[in-house]
Amino acid sequence: MALLDRIKALIQATGPLSIPQYMELCLHDPREGYYASRPALGEKGDFITAPLVSQMFGEIIGAWLVETWRRMGSPDAFRLVELGPGDGTLMDDIQRTVRQTAGFIAAQEIWLVETSPPLADLQGKRLGDRPRWVRSVAEIPDGRPMLIVSNELLDCLPARQFVRTARGWSERGVGQNATGDLTFGLMVSLSADTFPAAAEGTVIEVSAAQEDLARTLAQRIFIDGGAALLIDYGRSEPGFGDTLQAISEHRKVSPLADPGQADLTVHADFPAVVHAAAAEGLAHLPILTQGAFLLKMGVLERAESLAAAHPEKFDALERQLNRLISPGEMGDLFKVVCLARPDLTPPGFEAP
Ligand SMILES: C[S@@+](CC[C@H](N)C(=O)[O-])C[C@H]1O[C@@H](n2cnc3c(N)ncnc32)[C@H](O)[C@@H]1O
Repeated sequence: MALLDRIKALIQATGPLSIPQYMELCLHDPREGYYASRPALGEKGDFITAPLVSQMFGEIIGAWLVETWRRMGSPDAFRLVELGPGDGTLMDDIQRTVRQTAGFIAAQEIWLVETSPPLADLQGKRLGDRPRWVRSVAEIPDGRPMLIVSNELLDCLPARQFVRTARGWSERGVGQNATGDLTFGLMVSLSADTFPAAAEGTVIEVSAAQEDLARTLAQRIFIDGGAALLIDYGRSEPGFGDTLQAISEHRKVSPLADPGQADLTVHADFPAVVHAAAAEGLAHLPILTQGAFLLKMGVLERAESLAAAHPEKFDALERQLNRLISPGEMGDLFKVVCLARPDLTPPGFEAP
């Protein structure tokens, strides 16, 4: 049975699905989920990410990793972990950059956390047999510091949505209308006392999955040391808003139109991520925009040196830089968060 029909049968049997249940099926159903069957990254696919925009992105993260490792006292064994590595480009660019630091290369053990079999295949083709693959952070052995990077994973982790109605807050879910099509509707209700001033129709999102990941990373970092750099589009202040979106071939489509055929995301809730990590004893570091982070880490200088070495690429490099750091492009919408213990301040996150 096709995924859409199975979703409808499930709704008929058990009632409306919460947004996390619906996203989980659309993204990870083993037969037809987007990441199991057709993840298509890049210009010719469904969406493009920063590592695919420019090699400079991965090179800057490589430089960040080396400097963070130095500030940790250059441990002679640590785990370099990437969460949701896509087609492996980011880790490839990181490895080209860290190659210049022999101690880092000798100390690193590479782990990739990936749930998508086709993407794990692509990663293997690009990176060879150097990494080890797991499906969750919990499968990575403890006992060594970890340096963790992740670009655009948090937005794949679902959020529940609550809508303000005349009678209070109701959870939004996916059900069926009179003609049998999927439709958004309201499920369980909450007390009206939460955010009493919110206007009718206001939506608030709560992502247990994003907070759980932050908590898991924080617990490991608190005990074993290290740091995590999490990059994604999302909010830097707590707030309201419906951010559920589906993207196919670079266009926004209805999240209900064709389950499994589009990438389905919500914005990363960075204040909640930072709060969850701080509750486990980690530092309260600032949430930076991607533009500010890349500029602090020397992306302009990197672009200049690439342009000096390859003058014929000047225009392309300028376009790439603009895409990564301009406020109207990825510069402001994307945020960068660092999780670390209070005894380590990674580069870019020093107090002003
Ligand atoms: C939007 S892509 C980003 C890929 C890459 N980081 C980049 O920037 O190009 C999301 C990645 O996260 C993976 N992913 C999605 N859900 C996941 C989960 N629950 N656990 C681990 N990886 C997941 C996808 O398979 C994919 O590799």
